[in-house]
Amino acid sequence: MTPKILVVCGSSRVDGKLEQLTALAANSARQAGAEVRELSLERTPLPVMVWGDADQAKDPAVIEVRESAAWADGFILGTPEYHGSMSGALKNWFDFLYPELAGKFAGVVASTGGGTGDMSITAVKNCFQWCHGFVLPFHAAATATAYEAGELRDARVIDRVRRIGHDVA
Ligand SMILES: Cc1cc2nc3c(=O)[nH]c(=O)nc-3n(C[C@H](O)[C@H](O)[C@H](O)COP(=O)(O)O)c2cc1C
Repeated sequence: MTPKILVVCGSSRVDGKLEQLTALAANSARQAGAEVRELSLERTPLPVMVWGDADQAKDPAVIEVRESAAWADGFILGTPEYHGSMSGALKNWFDFLYPELAGKFAGVVASTGGGTGDMSITAVKNCFQWCHGFVLPFHAAATATAYEAGELRDARVIDRVRRIGHDVA
């Protein structure tokens, strides 16, 4: 069976650093034999979820988010660390989902300013588990010092992110 993996970049910033991590993990998952789709919450902005709003269910972005999550067997979820937690964009992505995540598997990567990423990574893992999913115990974070001239250069971070793509696949 070819595993189907959805890679979600939870940064809403144009040219944010996080997408370098999620793209790396996506390529690693492809090399490990997975079929991979990538979703950027910057290029696919969602409305703030209003529970029970029938109009939102017809929004093309909401349809895409629900269909791509239902398609996936597993996920690589990327978040920028915002105030010691995941981004609002990624939490909002979660809020449109529940059965689409249950029983599935996820690995997590984070982009931070100076922190270790533990707070945001734990927030994403908790949220995925509250949706009845299972998470990879291993994870990766890149602080600002992992980049040189805007490019991810830290070999240890690169190795960890690649391992997440491989292991989720
Ligand atoms: C609202 C906000 C809150 C942030 N909070 C934290 C934080 O708690 N810890 C941290 O290390 N960095 C924090 N940062 C820095 C971002 O995590 C960092 O710039 C990250 O690279 C952003 O991801 P992006 O480059 O994909 O946009 C914060 C940035 C913003 C805009």
